Amino acid sequence: MRKLGLLALAIVAFQTPASAQQGDASSGRQAFRVCAACHSLEPDRNMTGPSLAGLWGRKAGGLASFERYSDALKSSGIIWDDRSLDSWLTDPDRMVPDNEMPFNGIKDARMRADLLAFLKEATRPGVPPQIAQQDGKGGMGGMMRGMMGAERT
Ligand code: HEC
Repeated sequence: MRKLGLLALAIVAFQTPASAQQGDASSGRQAFRVCAACHSLEPDRNMTGPSLAGLWGRKAGGLASFERYSDALKSSGIIWDDRSLDSWLTDPDRMVPDNEMPFNGIKDARMRADLLAFLKEATRPGVPPQIAQQDGKGGMGGMMRGMMGAERT
């Protein structure tokens, strides 16, 4: 468990300077709970919505194992990246009219940036789902505080 925690920390530390939007992945993890009702982060584990594993660079409606995509999404021509995901999450219906994701969007830009910072890490191919989907209890913030506490002694 400790090893997993350190690995997760290393990933976050590595990611932070590269993230243009400065999203906070640990708040993003909380925000993702809303999505987790319909989306898993495990490859090909589809629920109401398609698995989001490997999302960046994927064609919208392009996951072969998910068979219930709307025609609207499949024919949208979107490739998922920071920008397209930001506008999808702002207002899915405006970006892809007639899509079938029952979700109104997130109007708060900060929350979207946090969510995308989390998702970008968690959906990267090769990140073990245990890390990606670890629940928020203590989570990374807790671990950080734990480590800082240890340094002081
Ligand atoms: C109530 C269920 C539900 C919720 C909640 C939900 N989604 Fe979805 N999502 C779907 C469905 C269904 C689709 C497929 C839509 C279509 O085919 O038109 C989808 C599609 C997507 C896609 C496109 C995937 C692809 O393979 O092209 C992304 C990205 C996405 N959702 C992200 C999110 C995020 C992030 C959240 C949380 C903020 C979220 N969704 C919340 C059901 C949901």
